[in-house]
Amino acid sequence: MEIGIGLFGLGTVGSGVVKILQQNAHQITQRTGSHLVVRQAVVHNLDKPRTGFKQDFPITDDPDNILTNEAIQIVVEVMGGIDYAYDIIKRALMAKKHVVTANKDLIAVRGQELAALANQNGVDLYYEAAVAGGIPILRTLSTSFTADAISRVAGIINGTSNFILTQMATNGLTYVNALKLAQDKGFAESNPTNDVEGFDAAYKLIILSNFSFGVQPIMNDVMVTGISNLTDSDINDAHSFGYAIKLLGVAQRVGDALSIEVAPHLVSFNHPLATVNNENNAVLVNGESVGEVMLYGPGAGEMPTANSVLSDLTNVATNLALNTPGRPFNTFNQNLDLAKPSQ
Ligand code: HSE
Repeated sequence: MEIGIGLFGLGTVGSGVVKILQQNAHQITQRTGSHLVVRQAVVHNLDKPRTGFKQDFPITDDPDNILTNEAIQIVVEVMGGIDYAYDIIKRALMAKKHVVTANKDLIAVRGQELAALANQNGVDLYYEAAVAGGIPILRTLSTSFTADAISRVAGIINGTSNFILTQMATNGLTYVNALKLAQDKGFAESNPTNDVEGFDAAYKLIILSNFSFGVQPIMNDVMVTGISNLTDSDINDAHSFGYAIKLLGVAQRVGDALSIEVAPHLVSFNHPLATVNNENNAVLVNGESVGEVMLYGPGAGEMPTANSVLSDLTNVATNLALNTPGRPFNTFNQNLDLAKPSQ
């Protein structure tokens, strides 16, 4: 069986998706039973020079070439941004196309509405790449923890801020120079405010809280403090007492309530999170039955993030082959109060 893919965005992640589809085509076909083919990729600028693509790679600037194309069953959205991406995904779902997106901001803000729309239309909506780049955390939470009661999910979920803190601590860079290096390396979002002020981590923590506790927090439910006010001496002082400073996202049960917070924390050098350096991420999950599990890996970057997109794509392909599409990524609702940490 051949499955047609329409790609919105051919930047860093989109290019990685095309590379993996081409390089690992044989393995993907063996494992899913289907041949995945990009039939169209929508880009903003048709004239931009692109290297690494075959001469006949199909690019267009007209979204209808994907949204009204009956030979396309799966839409992959890797453009980012909220409003335009929302319109595209909504139209795709209403046209009964499965959707894979890496868009954490959109999913954190309108994920429930889009999931309901996917459900109504009997199609899949997956977004593994939206949280912690290459770490397979959402699928792990929605499968391996189905029967466990999670008490806490916590971790380093913003690669840019972790890179900055690592560079300040180990190479003596100033905050400004470390941020510039993170931007040069392409980790930072186009607006680094979201990374350094904790909002990017907060969006990811909203999605993690949904998968872990079945709640639907909004940004106002999250207490957010970033790293932009930390100085070299804060970091040096912490070090002299045996601690690293890490920006952590923490969502934990407190009685019948849930506290959700992003803030810099002192982490003892003996704790595994203290060894998570540079752009890497790690998520700790505490389950009543399993105890503590830690997933560690790259939180950003072309190929790791593209691999998460591919894990979604191959799941959709498998669902299609088994004739079981329309499987919600996460169906879990609980009535927990969303308590502010200070309460
Ligand atoms: N800017 C994000 C980060 C990229 O630094 O973690 C992945 O979401």
